Amino acid sequence: MDTAGRYRRFAATEARGHSPSYERLAGGVAGDPGLLALIDELPPARRQPNLLFAVVRYLDGPAGDDYAAFRAWAVTHWPRLRSTMLERRTQTNEPARCAVLLPVLARLPQPLALIEVGASAGLCLYPDRYAYRYDGGTPFGATDGPVVLDCATTGPVPLPARPPEVAWRAGIDLNPLDVADPQDVRWLECLVWPGQHARLTRLRGAVRVARAEPPTLVRGDIDETIRDLVAATPAGTTPVVLHSAVLAYLPPEDRESFAATMRDLGCAWISNEAPGVLPAVDRRLSPLPAPDGLLFTLALNEHPLARTGPHGQSLHWLPAP
Ligand SMILES: C[S@@+](CC[C@H](N)C(=O)[O-])C[C@H]1O[C@@H](n2cnc3c(N)ncnc32)[C@H](O)[C@@H]1O
Repeated sequence: MDTAGRYRRFAATEARGHSPSYERLAGGVAGDPGLLALIDELPPARRQPNLLFAVVRYLDGPAGDDYAAFRAWAVTHWPRLRSTMLERRTQTNEPARCAVLLPVLARLPQPLALIEVGASAGLCLYPDRYAYRYDGGTPFGATDGPVVLDCATTGPVPLPARPPEVAWRAGIDLNPLDVADPQDVRWLECLVWPGQHARLTRLRGAVRVARAEPPTLVRGDIDETIRDLVAATPAGTTPVVLHSAVLAYLPPEDRESFAATMRDLGCAWISNEAPGVLPAVDRRLSPLPAPDGLLFTLALNEHPLARTGPHGQSLHWLPAP
């Protein structure tokens, strides 16, 4: 698909209903040969609408949905825009994904040693530090903390009475973001779409949690570093490797290589990824899920347990096979 098509699709399927401003801007870019030619100077992976719009905000470009103002700014500041689009990556860190991981984590033998691969700033490494409110019920967990995660459920979700006990936590990322670095935190904030106030509030709360107890984040590729981290987990804990919204960034052969490593390691492996990303998970689902990205699949050691809202907003537990 060419760049115009990518922006048109983004406007119609991703931004529509979620961000009127991004929908309008993406539609404008899709019909703008001059700006498209500039964007096409970038490698294909860096032409993403999400990345362009977040970088414009990061560089204090015009906010809002005025395409003419957006375009004029983008063209005038193209060298700086271009270099920042090459430097930054889409590393949206959504702590609300802990709400869909929680029932699986809570059922494993406690305490846990958590390893998140593709951790970004590591905000999903604190499931024991957040409060949870399923279906608008009474919050439980860390109710004295700054984060309450709301999640709507369907099906026989085995909701736990309390969050898991985390004895040890660490993450891996190609480019770990640092919650103590104001520019990294600003970048995370710019990755939240305009108007998504609840997500921004949640992000800021989770950053406070992580700053109080900074995560160990290892820089590296998941498949090259995972064995060392699993080997480093303390005795007396259950090592758990988890990831959400990560494997789609890898080419299919690297995903398969990582899956083979995880089968070999044999520890608890929780995946929360879009359909099409882990074929062994998809094959166990009937009917096969649509590869539309509207719902992820939550699985334990490649056995599907639930379909989930991509930002942790919903959890649809599957009937037992
Ligand atoms: C969309 S973010 C998701 C962050 C976090 N898992 C969450 O759910 O909020 C994907 C992360 O995966 C990381 N990533 C992508 N490919 C990777 C690889 N091969 N090795 C390590 N990290 C990778 C990116 O740098 C990015 O921070």
